[in-house]
Amino acid sequence: MQVNSSQKYFNIITYGCQMNVHESEKLAGILYESGYLPCSEMEKADIIIFNTCCIRDNAEKKAESKIGMVKKLKKLKPSLIVAVCGCMVQQKGKADELISKFPFIDIVLGTSNSKMLKSAIEKINSGLKRFIDIELDSSKIENLPALRSDRTNAWLNIMYGCDNFCTYCIVPYVRGRERSRNKQEILCELYGLLEKGYKEITLLGQNVNSYKSEDGEGFDGLLSEISKINGKFRLRFMTSHPKDFNENIIDIMADSPNICNHIHLPLQSGSDKVLKDMNRKYNMEKYLSIIDYARKIIPDIGITTDIMVGFPTETEEDFEQTLNAVKTIKFSSAFTFVYSPRRFTAASKMEQIDEQTKRKRIIELVALQNKITAENNKKLIGKDMEVLTEDFSRYEGMVCGRTDCGRMVNFEGNQQDIGKFMSIGIEKVKTGSMFGKRRD
Ligand code: SAH
Ligand code: SF4
Ligand code: F3S
Repeated sequence: MQVNSSQKYFNIITYGCQMNVHESEKLAGILYESGYLPCSEMEKADIIIFNTCCIRDNAEKKAESKIGMVKKLKKLKPSLIVAVCGCMVQQKGKADELISKFPFIDIVLGTSNSKMLKSAIEKINSGLKRFIDIELDSSKIENLPALRSDRTNAWLNIMYGCDNFCTYCIVPYVRGRERSRNKQEILCELYGLLEKGYKEITLLGQNVNSYKSEDGEGFDGLLSEISKINGKFRLRFMTSHPKDFNENIIDIMADSPNICNHIHLPLQSGSDKVLKDMNRKYNMEKYLSIIDYARKIIPDIGITTDIMVGFPTETEEDFEQTLNAVKTIKFSSAFTFVYSPRRFTAASKMEQIDEQTKRKRIIELVALQNKITAENNKKLIGKDMEVLTEDFSRYEGMVCGRTDCGRMVNFEGNQQDIGKFMSIGIEKVKTGSMFGKRRD
């Protein structure tokens, strides 16, 4: 595209999960189709979008402090359009709160209102003071154009929203009721992505295991259809919820060369009492039976997880049970979080644990998992693994990519290697990072 001096630019700042990363790609798609080009600096942009998250208090604080920085820019360039989108603004009362704190915000769009972006900008440009649309209705999320930020990996929504109401979680309040996408639509998008040359597709949903297609089939039905697609590509999916996980999924994974041997299966806690208080609807016996079956059928499967400490009813004994579960299961890696009370949720109304105890627990958990991650990685030294090169590494002269089981490996390479499958011999492990040498 030829760039002229009247060319307008957008800058999107994204917080939160992969779902939000993909939502930002759709916001970018709308802007691109309207003639804007992406830029990475707020100073250069004519429109700045904050695509926010509110899963924990620190996610909101981070976004708010960055939004505050725009005040200066808006003074320098009064035509600058500032939009705040995503989960944070979907909380009841939050849009008004933000506007009174940051009166320079022009557009507020909720989690199911991205497609209003184009007309919101037009209205602001023709003099409207502010455009707000936060009506929550997941049926309004249509197929939007996406300007994808990566040329190797692509995100693909298979469902929206969540009906699980885990007692700590705000997602069901801000993403609305669960809705599965039409299976043919998903397959069509998938074929389109493969045709465009994407090598790795990740199916996205808050709980992919509760996917239901229009013909009444579950997630295993969708996976099994995808497993029949010929050609070399990788398929991942997240997040799996243990309560609905079905062993058939593992069998399909084992039979399909394209479905990665990796599951992300959030544990949250190793205590049955806490899991019950969290309304997770599984216990440790169920969780461990999934792990046992997965490892029996696919011995080298990568299993990653999410774990939370400091839930209101978590005693020292419950926390010990979480540590024991981590020692027993030996996850490939884990995302670990300190519980953060969220408005509207049942757990926020319970008596809370003091911050110091939460801190102590997270430090202990992180140290334990880091040790396990390093031990697991060391076991791979000497092995040759297939890696899909994704990007430049943070180590100079190197590129990086993931193994089938989801581990990141760094190795010498350049731009031409990105997007290619390579055989890499694992040579060393340094504090969580793995290094290898190409074999071909
Ligand atoms: N749908 C996924 C999780 C989505 S949120 C699932 O059910 O597993 C991603 C992770 O954020 C959760 O797994 C949980 O560990 C963490 N999380 C959610 N709410 C939180 C809260 N209030 N405080 C701290 N961590 C939280
Ligand atoms: Fe939140 Fe639970 Fe839904 Fe996951 S399943 S998004 S943790 S309510
Ligand atoms: Fe994701 Fe955060 Fe929303 S984790 S669903 S962006 S609250």
